[in-house]
Amino acid sequence: MELKTIKKIGVLTSGGDAPGMNAAIRAAVRAGFYYNLDMYGIYRGYEGMIQNDIKKLDSRNITHVLERGGTFLKSARSEEFRTPEGRKKAYANLKAHGIDALIVIGGDGSLTGAHLFYQEYGIPAIGLPGTIDNDLSGTDSTIGFDTACNTAIEAIDKIRDTATSHDRLFFVEVMGRDAGFIAVNAGIGSAAAAILIPENKTPIESLIEKLKSRTKAMKTSNIVIVAEGGKSGSAQEIADKVKKFLPYYDIKVTILGHLQRGGAPTSFDRLLASKLGVAAVEGLMQGKYDVMAGLINHKVVFTPIVKAIVDDKKVDEDDLRVANILST
Ligand code: F6P
Repeated sequence: MELKTIKKIGVLTSGGDAPGMNAAIRAAVRAGFYYNLDMYGIYRGYEGMIQNDIKKLDSRNITHVLERGGTFLKSARSEEFRTPEGRKKAYANLKAHGIDALIVIGGDGSLTGAHLFYQEYGIPAIGLPGTIDNDLSGTDSTIGFDTACNTAIEAIDKIRDTATSHDRLFFVEVMGRDAGFIAVNAGIGSAAAAILIPENKTPIESLIEKLKSRTKAMKTSNIVIVAEGGKSGSAQEIADKVKKFLPYYDIKVTILGHLQRGGAPTSFDRLLASKLGVAAVEGLMQGKYDVMAGLINHKVVFTPIVKAIVDDKKVDEDDLRVANILST
């Protein structure tokens, strides 16, 4: 592959925001300055690329952002970038600024955009895994996942207090799109009675049996974690079904929703984002294009974007086994 001289790098965040995105932007920009590169912020993801919302960054832009949730570059899901016309406009804007490489921080949709753009226009791009869902291969953890799990656990601990006081059964719905990583992590970390994930279809009968056996074991409060996107239905739908079989339970439903996306990143996410931000700049300088930088066993690994987004990262079977033992 031809090694291109890179002088100006554009950075963008796209898709659902995730805690640690700011830390990743900051690390990439600081690394760019270290290597005497010009760094550009592309605001509102691919939308801003199409609308020319692009500004040269200086060190003031990245002061006191490492510790903040969200993304100061803002984020969007761009429909127009999915069209060849949208990408043509975006390319013209990058050329006008002289931007010759991209760092795209986001989930699978955002990285797919970077891949397409590289295929069509040859713009060197490196993706960083920025999503609370943890559903990208090529990295043990995505930026934001650890923070989201901590946020979910903190919220569920509070639900536990009131559930115990009233001997109630709670169904708590967590995010993750069609992946159960947050559910499994938060479920084990909050001593859930059961964890329902999209990857496995849990028959309602086995959930009911489990709840009955916990009643026999004198467990008076129960929290069931339901991952959104599950095959057994939403937390509310499952709660309604369970109520029919176990009418004596006082059942409540809580949807944690977008609070899982906010908040200051944990130490883990700050370190992950910082290492990957530097890796993205160094990777581009070394000619690593159309890849995603991830961390596997604490080491930076570059995985072709097509592999990172297509490979099915599996919820760890051993985590499920442990969750089952601990909830019996
Ligand atoms: O991909 C991150 C995520 O928070 C998913 O967990 C969730 O399904 C989705 O984004 C929600 O998207 P939006 O903020 O557009 O409603």
